[in-house]
Amino acid sequence: MLRIAVLVSGGGTNLQALIDAERRGELAGGKIVRVIASRPGAYALERAEGAGIPGTVVCRKDCASPEEFDRALLAALEECGAELVVLAGYLSILSETVVTRYANRILNIHPALIPSFCGKGFYGLKVHEAALACGVKVTGATVHFVNEIPDGGAILLQKAVEVLNGDTPETLQRRVMEQAEWELLPRAVALFCQGRITIEGRRALIREADEHQRRT
Ligand code: GRF
Repeated sequence: MLRIAVLVSGGGTNLQALIDAERRGELAGGKIVRVIASRPGAYALERAEGAGIPGTVVCRKDCASPEEFDRALLAALEECGAELVVLAGYLSILSETVVTRYANRILNIHPALIPSFCGKGFYGLKVHEAALACGVKVTGATVHFVNEIPDGGAILLQKAVEVLNGDTPETLQRRVMEQAEWELLPRAVALFCQGRITIEGRRALIREADEHQRRT
Protein backbone atom coordinates (compact mmCIF):
# COMPACT_ATOMS: atom_id res chain seq x y z
CA MET A 1 0.00 0.00 0.00
CA LEU A 2 1.54 3.29 -1.11
CA ARG A 3 0.95 6.12 1.38
CA ILE A 4 -0.39 9.33 -0.21
CA ALA A 5 -0.58 12.82 1.30
CA VAL A 6 -2.88 15.29 -0.49
CA LEU A 7 -2.20 19.02 -0.18
CA VAL A 8 -5.19 21.33 -0.57
CA SER A 9 -6.22 24.98 -0.29
CA GLY A 10 -9.83 25.25 -1.42
CA GLY A 11 -13.02 23.37 -2.14
CA GLY A 12 -11.30 20.01 -2.53
CA THR A 13 -13.13 18.67 -5.60
CA ASN A 14 -9.90 17.08 -6.83
CA LEU A 15 -9.37 15.56 -3.39
CA GLN A 16 -12.91 14.21 -3.60
CA ALA A 17 -12.15 12.65 -6.97
CA LEU A 18 -9.17 10.87 -5.37
CA ILE A 19 -11.25 9.74 -2.37
CA ASP A 20 -13.96 8.38 -4.66
CA ALA A 21 -11.38 6.63 -6.87
CA GLU A 22 -9.79 4.99 -3.82
CA ARG A 23 -13.20 3.79 -2.66
CA ARG A 24 -13.75 2.23 -6.14
CA GLY A 25 -10.39 0.48 -5.89
CA GLU A 26 -8.96 2.58 -8.73
CA LEU A 27 -5.79 3.90 -7.04
CA ALA A 28 -3.81 0.66 -7.57
CA GLY A 29 -3.26 0.13 -3.87
CA GLY A 30 -2.57 3.75 -3.04
CA LYS A 31 -4.10 5.00 0.21
CA ILE A 32 -4.71 8.64 1.15
CA VAL A 33 -3.32 8.82 4.70
CA ARG A 34 -3.31 12.57 5.28
CA VAL A 35 -4.79 15.81 3.93
CA ILE A 36 -2.73 18.93 4.57
CA ALA A 37 -4.42 22.32 4.01
CA SER A 38 -2.56 25.58 3.44
CA ARG A 39 -5.24 27.43 5.39
CA PRO A 40 -7.84 26.69 8.08
CA GLY A 41 -11.43 26.56 6.88
CA ALA A 42 -10.64 25.00 3.50
CA TYR A 43 -13.74 22.94 2.63
CA ALA A 44 -11.38 20.19 1.49
CA LEU A 45 -10.76 19.52 5.21
CA GLU A 46 -14.46 18.74 5.65
CA ARG A 47 -14.26 16.32 2.71
CA ALA A 48 -11.29 14.64 4.40
CA GLU A 49 -13.17 14.36 7.69
CA GLY A 50 -16.17 12.90 5.89
CA ALA A 51 -13.87 10.24 4.44
CA GLY A 52 -12.18 9.52 7.78
CA ILE A 53 -8.84 10.91 6.63
CA PRO A 54 -6.79 12.89 9.21
CA GLY A 55 -6.49 16.56 8.27
CA THR A 56 -3.76 19.02 9.21
CA VAL A 57 -3.30 22.74 8.59
CA VAL A 58 0.18 24.02 7.78
CA CYS A 59 -0.26 27.74 7.14
CA ARG A 60 2.47 30.15 6.09
CA LYS A 61 0.89 32.92 8.17
CA ASP A 62 1.44 30.83 11.32
CA CYS A 63 5.14 30.45 10.59
CA ALA A 64 7.77 33.04 11.48
CA SER A 65 9.81 32.32 8.33
CA PRO A 66 9.70 30.32 5.08
CA GLU A 67 12.19 27.91 6.69
CA GLU A 68 9.82 27.33 9.60
CA PHE A 69 7.00 26.63 7.14
CA ASP A 70 9.20 24.09 5.33
CA ARG A 71 10.05 22.38 8.61
CA ALA A 72 6.36 22.20 9.60
CA LEU A 73 5.30 20.84 6.21
CA LEU A 74 8.12 18.27 6.08
CA ALA A 75 7.31 17.20 9.64
CA ALA A 76 3.65 16.64 8.70
CA LEU A 77 4.66 14.66 5.60
CA GLU A 78 7.19 12.53 7.49
CA GLU A 79 4.80 11.96 10.38
CA CYS A 80 2.26 10.31 8.05
CA GLY A 81 4.96 8.46 6.10
CA ALA A 82 3.96 10.02 2.78
CA GLU A 83 5.53 8.26 -0.22
CA LEU A 84 3.65 10.32 -2.80
CA VAL A 85 2.56 13.95 -2.39
CA VAL A 86 -0.38 15.15 -4.50
CA LEU A 87 -1.12 18.87 -4.90
CA ALA A 88 -4.88 19.11 -5.43
CA GLY A 89 -5.83 22.75 -5.82
CA TYR A 90 -2.90 23.66 -3.53
CA LEU A 91 -2.06 27.35 -3.84
CA SER A 92 1.24 27.58 -2.01
CA ILE A 93 4.48 27.33 -4.00
CA LEU A 94 6.73 24.62 -2.52
CA SER A 95 10.33 25.54 -1.76
CA GLU A 96 13.31 23.82 -3.36
CA THR A 97 13.94 22.19 0.05
CA VAL A 98 10.58 20.41 -0.01
CA VAL A 99 10.70 19.65 -3.75
CA THR A 100 14.19 18.13 -3.41
CA ARG A 101 13.18 16.05 -0.38
CA TYR A 102 10.34 14.53 -2.45
CA ALA A 103 12.03 14.66 -5.86
CA ASN A 104 9.90 12.98 -8.55
CA ARG A 105 7.30 12.10 -5.90
CA ILE A 106 5.12 15.23 -6.06
CA LEU A 107 2.26 15.45 -8.58
CA ASN A 108 0.25 18.58 -9.38
CA ILE A 109 -2.96 19.14 -11.33
CA HIS A 110 -2.96 22.34 -13.39
CA PRO A 111 -6.16 23.54 -15.10
CA ALA A 112 -4.60 24.24 -18.51
CA LEU A 113 -2.56 22.47 -21.19
CA ILE A 114 0.99 23.27 -20.02
CA PRO A 115 2.99 25.17 -21.34
CA SER A 116 -0.06 27.37 -21.93
CA PHE A 117 -1.43 29.55 -19.15
CA CYS A 118 0.89 28.33 -16.42
CA GLY A 119 3.63 29.52 -14.11
CA LYS A 120 3.66 32.27 -11.53
CA GLY A 121 0.28 34.01 -11.17
CA PHE A 122 -1.67 31.41 -13.18
CA TYR A 123 -3.96 29.62 -10.72
CA GLY A 124 -7.70 29.04 -10.18
CA LEU A 125 -10.00 31.27 -12.24
CA LYS A 126 -7.06 33.37 -13.50
CA VAL A 127 -6.06 30.47 -15.74
CA HIS A 128 -9.47 30.37 -17.42
CA GLU A 129 -9.69 34.17 -17.65
CA ALA A 130 -6.40 34.13 -19.56
CA ALA A 131 -7.59 31.33 -21.87
CA LEU A 132 -10.80 33.19 -22.70
CA ALA A 133 -8.90 36.46 -23.20
CA CYS A 134 -6.71 34.72 -25.77
CA GLY A 135 -9.72 33.26 -27.56
CA VAL A 136 -8.40 29.69 -27.52
CA LYS A 137 -10.83 27.05 -28.83
CA VAL A 138 -9.33 24.27 -26.74
CA THR A 139 -7.94 24.22 -23.22
CA GLY A 140 -7.75 21.38 -20.71
CA ALA A 141 -5.80 20.08 -17.74
CA THR A 142 -2.34 18.72 -17.05
CA VAL A 143 -0.91 16.46 -14.37
CA HIS A 144 2.82 17.01 -14.00
CA PHE A 145 5.64 16.28 -11.60
CA VAL A 146 6.63 19.21 -9.43
CA ASN A 147 10.12 20.64 -9.60
CA GLU A 148 11.58 23.97 -8.52
CA ILE A 149 9.93 25.84 -11.42
CA PRO A 150 6.19 26.60 -10.90
CA ASP A 151 4.31 24.24 -13.26
CA GLY A 152 7.69 23.35 -14.77
CA GLY A 153 8.09 19.64 -14.02
CA ALA A 154 7.74 16.66 -16.37
CA ILE A 155 4.27 16.40 -17.90
CA LEU A 156 2.57 13.08 -17.15
CA LEU A 157 -1.04 13.31 -18.44
CA GLN A 158 -3.04 15.89 -20.37
CA LYS A 159 -6.63 16.06 -21.63
CA ALA A 160 -8.18 18.67 -23.92
CA VAL A 161 -11.50 20.36 -23.22
CA GLU A 162 -13.44 22.45 -25.78
CA VAL A 163 -14.06 26.14 -25.08
CA LEU A 164 -17.71 26.96 -25.89
CA ASN A 165 -19.27 30.19 -27.13
CA GLY A 166 -20.51 32.16 -24.15
CA ASP A 167 -18.17 30.48 -21.70
CA THR A 168 -17.35 32.46 -18.59
CA PRO A 169 -14.26 31.69 -16.48
CA GLU A 170 -16.61 29.90 -14.06
CA THR A 171 -18.34 27.71 -16.66
CA LEU A 172 -15.02 26.88 -18.30
CA GLN A 173 -13.38 26.03 -14.95
CA ARG A 174 -16.25 23.71 -14.08
CA ARG A 175 -16.04 21.90 -17.43
CA VAL A 176 -12.27 21.53 -17.18
CA MET A 177 -12.66 20.07 -13.68
CA GLU A 178 -15.50 17.72 -14.66
CA GLN A 179 -14.11 16.55 -18.00
CA ALA A 180 -10.38 16.58 -17.28
CA GLU A 181 -9.06 17.23 -13.77
CA TRP A 182 -11.22 14.75 -11.89
CA GLU A 183 -10.35 12.03 -14.41
CA LEU A 184 -6.64 12.73 -14.86
CA LEU A 185 -5.53 13.06 -11.23
CA PRO A 186 -6.74 9.65 -10.02
CA ARG A 187 -5.34 8.05 -13.20
CA ALA A 188 -1.95 9.69 -12.61
CA VAL A 189 -1.87 8.53 -8.98
CA ALA A 190 -2.74 4.97 -10.06
CA LEU A 191 0.07 4.99 -12.64
CA PHE A 192 2.52 6.13 -9.97
CA CYS A 193 1.32 3.46 -7.53
CA GLN A 194 1.74 0.82 -10.27
CA GLY A 195 5.35 1.96 -10.79
CA ARG A 196 4.71 2.47 -14.50
CA ILE A 197 6.31 5.93 -14.80
CA THR A 198 9.87 6.65 -15.85
CA ILE A 199 11.18 10.22 -15.82
CA GLU A 200 13.79 11.10 -18.42
CA GLY A 201 14.76 14.76 -18.10
CA ARG A 202 11.61 16.78 -18.74
CA ARG A 203 9.69 13.79 -20.05
CA ALA A 204 7.61 11.32 -18.03
CA LEU A 205 7.24 8.02 -19.91
CA ILE A 206 4.39 5.62 -19.11
CA ARG A 207 4.98 1.90 -19.56
CA GLU A 208 2.02 -0.06 -20.93
CA ALA A 209 0.32 -2.20 -18.29
CA ASP A 210 1.12 -5.52 -20.04
CA GLU A 211 4.77 -4.47 -20.58
CA HIS A 212 4.95 -3.58 -16.89
CA GLN A 213 3.45 -6.93 -15.88
CA ARG A 214 5.95 -8.79 -18.11
CA ARG A 215 8.75 -7.03 -16.25
CA THR A 216 7.51 -7.85 -12.73
C1 GRF B 1 -9.53 24.79 -9.31
O1 GRF B 1 -9.30 26.00 -10.01
C2 GRF B 1 -8.90 23.70 -10.06
O2 GRF B 1 -9.00 23.94 -11.45
C3 GRF B 1 -7.48 23.79 -9.64
O3 GRF B 1 -7.52 24.24 -8.26
C4 GRF B 1 -8.78 24.88 -8.02
C5 GRF B 1 -9.53 24.28 -6.87
O4 GRF B 1 -9.56 22.91 -7.02
N1 GRF B 1 -6.83 22.50 -9.76
P1 GRF B 1 -10.22 21.99 -5.85
O5 GRF B 1 -11.73 22.02 -6.08
O6 GRF B 1 -9.86 22.61 -4.51
O7 GRF B 1 -9.65 20.63 -6.06
